[in-house]
Order: sequence, then structure tokens, then C-alpha cells
Amino acid sequence: KTIHLKDYTPFGYLVDEVRLTFDLAPDATRVTSRIAFRPNPETTDRRFFLHGEELRLLRAAIDGAEIAPEITDEGLICAVPDAPFVWEAEVEIAPAANTALEGLYLSNGMYCTQCEAEGFRKITYYPDRPDVMSTFTVRINGTHPVLLSNGNPVDSGEGFAEWHDPWPKPAYLFALVAGDLLAHSDTFTTVSGRVVDLNLWVRPGDEGKCAFGMEALKKSMRWDEEVYGREYDLDVFNIVAVDDFNMGAMENKGLNIFNSAAVLASPETSTDDNFERIEAIIAHEYFHNWTGNRITCRDWFQLCLKEGLTVFRDAQFTSDLRSAPVKRIRDVIDLRARQFPEDQGPLSHPVRPESFQEINNFYTATVYEKGAEVIGMLKRLVGDAAYAEALDLYFARHDGQACTIEDWLKVFEDVTGRDLSQFKRWYSQAGTPRLTVEEAWQDGTFTLTLSQETPATPGQPDKLPQVIPVAVGLLNPNGDEVRATEVLELTQARQSFSFDGLAARPVASVLRDFSAPVVLDHDLSPEQRAFLLAHDTDPFNRWEAGRALAGQCLLDMITEDAAPDTAYLDGLTAVLRDDGLDPAYRALMLGLPSQSELAATLHQRGLIPDPQAIWEATETLRQTTAQHMQDLLPRLRAEAQIEAPFRPDADQAGKRALGSAALALLSRLDSGTQAAADYACADNMTLQLSALSCLLKAGKGEVELAAFYDQWRGDRLVIDKWFGLQVALAAPEQAAETARRLSAHAEFNWRNPNRFRAVFGALAMHHAGFHHASGAAYQLLADWLIRLDPVNPQTTARMCSAYQTWRRYDNDRQLLIGAQLDRILAQPNLSRDTTEMLTRIRGS
Ligand code: ARG
Ligand code: ZN
Repeated sequence: KTIHLKDYTPFGYLVDEVRLTFDLAPDATRVTSRIAFRPNPETTDRRFFLHGEELRLLRAAIDGAEIAPEITDEGLICAVPDAPFVWEAEVEIAPAANTALEGLYLSNGMYCTQCEAEGFRKITYYPDRPDVMSTFTVRINGTHPVLLSNGNPVDSGEGFAEWHDPWPKPAYLFALVAGDLLAHSDTFTTVSGRVVDLNLWVRPGDEGKCAFGMEALKKSMRWDEEVYGREYDLDVFNIVAVDDFNMGAMENKGLNIFNSAAVLASPETSTDDNFERIEAIIAHEYFHNWTGNRITCRDWFQLCLKEGLTVFRDAQFTSDLRSAPVKRIRDVIDLRARQFPEDQGPLSHPVRPESFQEINNFYTATVYEKGAEVIGMLKRLVGDAAYAEALDLYFARHDGQACTIEDWLKVFEDVTGRDLSQFKRWYSQAGTPRLTVEEAWQDGTFTLTLSQETPATPGQPDKLPQVIPVAVGLLNPNGDEVRATEVLELTQARQSFSFDGLAARPVASVLRDFSAPVVLDHDLSPEQRAFLLAHDTDPFNRWEAGRALAGQCLLDMITEDAAPDTAYLDGLTAVLRDDGLDPAYRALMLGLPSQSELAATLHQRGLIPDPQAIWEATETLRQTTAQHMQDLLPRLRAEAQIEAPFRPDADQAGKRALGSAALALLSRLDSGTQAAADYACADNMTLQLSALSCLLKAGKGEVELAAFYDQWRGDRLVIDKWFGLQVALAAPEQAAETARRLSAHAEFNWRNPNRFRAVFGALAMHHAGFHHASGAAYQLLADWLIRLDPVNPQTTARMCSAYQTWRRYDNDRQLLIGAQLDRILAQPNLSRDTTEMLTRIRGS
């Protein structure tokens, strides 16, 4: 069954109040609800349908009189008075049997919930849609020492606790936790002087991994006050860490629930990347309190309203706390790795989708990350001051409401007087626009002709021109900037922009700061790119010039058997030598375009990518780079030495990143001698993991790998790394076999999403390994998806995207993958989640 945006109608009733009582028991939890409804004056539709799935209804009553509703797989219908009434129900659910991790479930003996998007209907009968908002009062009867729900605590005693959330909210923000937990506590005083109790709840044993998350929370709370004027609105803010969780974290009102991998951190067990990600996710969930909770979504088609904006806000936060250019570059790397393949393949969908079968399949890189890019473009077009004004108006106008993208754009139109109807196409047109740049030079006038074209995507054969902000700067031949960054507004299919009064033909730096999520086609010579790599004043484009040089060099190696380009090697070495540049930035410079990205580029050029050839070219270029930089490597390593005690801040992390990148190159020359020495004295996880990776890459490290396992066998998050690393660093022909071997390991608990993803996520991301000609990885993954689907449809469906690029490859591979897709699709009772994903990937 497909749900369409155009079919939206409001619910016929409003909810004034919800009272819930939980009598917790693993196999038979009793949920008693008492809900005050009244007819919605905005509609005449008086059909009373409540969602409900996998519930055992014990009793239902209206205004105290028992009734017998008509029950289906999806909910119930009954006749109700045409006046305010009280609905009561008692249902029984079985948290212990809930392996899908949606609704109320158990994780290591702790009760917890995940209700977004449509999990509340597995807890009790309710209008489970985001536009139905109400206050909640929750009583939990249970034997666990810690009993939590949303809002403020109102009462507690032996075996019970009561919570009240005064802020009306949709059911997807409901949460309940009951467990034997310890709190890492602190307080935060808001700008208006209210003291908020903060708790980070964890399993005994994890107390030592809370301090960083707590600091991140306090920084987030302060930042949102300072930058967006948003103050926290309850007396307490609770965060709970849970081991079994389908995603990163969830912004339940006043009770955020986190995948333990997204919140627990210590220097010994977490890498610098883990720290940065945790800080960002804590900020993200916290920021949802205003962008998501106080102002929520009318329906799930509007998901980007809260997710795009909240991702944009957490990116601003990270840029402010760390390095803005480094954050921007990392985000673009991530966008190209995850969003571009989605946007350019069979799963392509608009930032605001128009239809879906299973909403869980639309928590995508397009909705989140492209959704954030769209907001970045809007801000660039209207300017910082107008953006701030529009956001103030958004909060003032829509607080307490369930909104749409139309509401969002309207505040910008009202503040700026701009007509955003063409801009809105970013929300409705799927696909990555291609932006082509042509240059002309005559009599001191430099002209850029920009053209745009968006390829057809499923269901959208024809595309219209979008509004593309193209940030451009011009450099003189001597390397000085002659025109500072200026934003060109491309609105037509093809448009020219001139710069006059120039003494010499400039070099154009186009799409600075990655001002739009497009594929840029700017035909520059290797010399021009090397010039930009040396001189561009825009840090993003300077990095991008190096990236493009590396990409072109690899493509020439793949398609023409060319030797590695010295323009790239010399330019790169010069940048790495420049110790005036941030170490983190230089570490990023050493990266190469991913192998999957190279495959995409070859495909776009009408060629068929050979994953093995791409692998080999990448290896050769790394080896050549190591030789080319041989003399520089010790100096880079010396620069990366840190005397001070470990701090997970941007400064130290950047040095360690540079040191790791240098070690990786060095290990190609000394076959791992230095890495073995580094491993022996590593005193934090970043160094330990980087040294171990270098060893494994060099075909060594067997002893260290075993020692690592013994050292960390009690720490599930580190053991996830141990699983993932082996797959990620296996040779292409070994990847599937390594994953198979690890999936037979006693510690491979495939029901735990983190562990499943550690192995099979790593396999899917191993480009040459996953696409090895034998087809072994295609088959192994399919075997496991078939096994996981009945247990956990959400995680299964998510992993199906491993196959989404299959049409890029040769016939043999397409046949191999097609056979696996068909085999999974032929399974009886395949979940709606997985069926939808695979049918879309398979195509018609
Ligand atoms: N709203 C959560 C977040 O962005 C993620 C919820 C994901 N839900 C899902 N069904 N996949 O932080
Ligand atoms: Zn979010």
C-alpha cells in the first residue's frame, strides 16, 4: 500500500490529554490508556480510527461504557459521540519478543522504546500521526530502580514513577525507559536562570564513558541559546544509552535515547572520529527540542523540515566548535559517499518525497544531508541577517504546531520579499544536478557560462532548472585573489556572468565552499588545478582542487594505463610541507576519492567500472605517493607528536589524523615496522586503531589483532571495531570470506544492529571486496539479509542499499546481483520494509 502526500487530511479529532499506565513485564506488559478526545472543528471527517499493531486488546471503553471495536491488522474503528469523550483501553504487549526494536522492547534486561516514525502504535491504540499533539502523563509500575518517561518527574516511590510532559507532542516523541542504570549527572543554568538537571543514564560499567557526552550536551544547550535564541523548557533532560538500537539516536521530549555507540566515549576506547560524531549527535538530538519537538512535522512527507534543519544546525555547531573548513570538507565527502549514490540510482527520491510504502525507508541521506544542503543554499541566497530573522519568525509563528515545507519557505518569503517558488524545486525534484562551466576571455572581460541539467530519476523523467547559488572567486595568474567570493544565482538552464576590468585572464574558483549539492563539470587543465591547489583562498576549493587532480590522475591510470601524474604528487607534497596549514586540513588533503566515487564517475562518462582495476590504481597511487613523500613523512610524524595529556579536541585530533595518514604511507615503505612500534606504545584508541590498520594493510598484525581482542573482549563497542576493521582491510578477494568467518565467531550477535553492521556494513563499503567478480559477497550479504528480515526489518531494509549501484557494473555482475535480489524478494513473508527497498532497487 502506497501513501501519498497529496492525500493528506487532518484527523477528525483533537487530543486534549493522554494518561498512560504501564505495568511492566517482559512477556505481558499491560498498557492502560485514558485519552480525552474532542471533534476537530477544522474538519467534518468523523471516522474514528486508531492505529494499533501487534496489540492484544483486553478492554475498551468510551466515557466509561465498554465497547467492542472493529479490529484489523492496522488498528481499530468504532463509533464515538459527536462531542468530547474519554477513550479508555487496556492492551497487552510482549517487549521480550520484540526483536524489531520498534515500540517497547528489551535490551540487556532494560526496557526502552523507539516510536519514530510509527512505533507508538505497537504500544497502544492511538492516532499515531505527527499532527496529533497532546500532553502526556505517564505512570510506570515496575521493579527496576530507574523508571523514566518524558517531561518532568511528578512522583515516585517503591515500584513506580510518574511523569508529566506539559508540552503537547506527537506520539512519536513518547519514550519510556526502565532499567538498572547509573546516572552521570550535572546541571545547566539556562539564560533566564532556570536550573536544569541533566542525567546521562548508562549500564553499570559504563560510568567512565559519560563525561564527554555531558560536556557536549552543555555546549549544545549554550550554543542554541546564543546562536538561535532557544532555551530549554523542562526541569530535567535525560539521555539513556542503549546497546540495541536501529539508528544513532532519538530526540524523545526530555528523554533522548541513544545507541550506546553514539554517546559513550573514552580516550582508551573511542577514536577522535567517534568523539566528533558523538558531540554532533548529542547536539543534533538536543537541537531537535526546538526544530522537531516544539515545531514538528504535519506528516512524514515533511520529515526534512525537522531533519534537514537539525542536521544543518548541528553542522553549524561543529563548525563553530572545531574547524569550519574541515567540517565542510568532511560533510562533502560524506554527501558524495552516501547521498550522491542514492540520488543517482534507483532509490532516488526528492528531499520531500511524494509517496512511500514504509516511512522507515525514508530516513535517508537525501532527506537528512541533502535536506541540510538545501537550507545552506537558502541561507547563502538570503544572507545571514535575513536567515536569522526568518528563523526568529519561524519559531514565533509556528511554536506548538505541526508544519510543512510551505510554512518553512513562507517565513523566508515574508522576511525577504523573495519569491521562493522556483527554489522550492529543491524539495520536489530528485537527482543531482550537473553544473557545467564554460569560460571565455576577451578584452579584459572574463565570462562564465553556467548550465545545469538534472538527469531523469525514477518517476521524474523531465526536470526543470533549479536555483543554484554558485559561489565564485577569481585569482590572478600570480596567485592573488582579484575578485573575492561572490554568489552567482543560476536560475536558467544556461546563463552567463561577466567580470570586467581585469588585467589578465584569471583562474576561476567555482562552487566555493561547495555552495550547492551538484556535480561540477569544470574542464580545467591539471596545471590550473595545481595552481588552485597551491593558491586558492577558499579552503574548500583548495582541497577540492587536490581531490580533482587525484581523481583525474586515477581515472587516467584506470582507463589509459597512465603513470601517476606528477602535477598531483608535487602539488600535494607542497601543501603537506606547508606547516602553516592546519594538520587536520593537510590530513584531508592526503585522502583520495573513494573507489565507489571513481566507479560513479566512470559510469557517468559512459564507461563500465571495473572494481578490481579501481582498487589496483588506488593502491598504486598510494604507493607512489608514499615514495614521493618519503623524506617528508618523518617530519609529518614529528609534527603530530603530542606531549600534552589526551584531549579529544579539534587541535589534537587534527595532529593525530595527520600522524595516522603519514604512518599509513610510511607503512607501505617499511612494511609495517613503524606501525608495530606505534601499536606497542599506543595509549589511546585513535593511535591503537591506526597502527593496527596499517599492520593489517601490510598483511601483518596477526599477533596484535589477537592481543587487541583479548584486551577489549569486555567492551562491546571496541569489539565492533575489531570486527569491522578486519573486513574493511581485507584484500578484495578475501573480503567475503573474512566476513563469513567473522559471522561464525562466538561474539557475532547478529541480532544486535551495531554488530551486524560492523561486519556487513564494512563488507558493503569495501568496494572491490563487495563487487568481487566471484559474487561471493553479494550472496553472503543476501543470505544474512534473508535471516535478519523476520527479526529486524528496519536494519535489513537499510542494508539493502548495498546493492543500489548495481546498474553501474558489467553484465556478469548485474546478473549475479539481480539473482540475489530476486532470491530475497522470493522469501515468503518478506517485510514491507525490505520488499519496498528491493523492488525499488530492482526497478521495473
Ligand atoms: N529522529 C531521529 C534523528 O534524526 C532518527 C529517527 C530514525 N527513525 C527511523 N525510523 N529510522 O535523530
Ligand atoms: Zn534528527
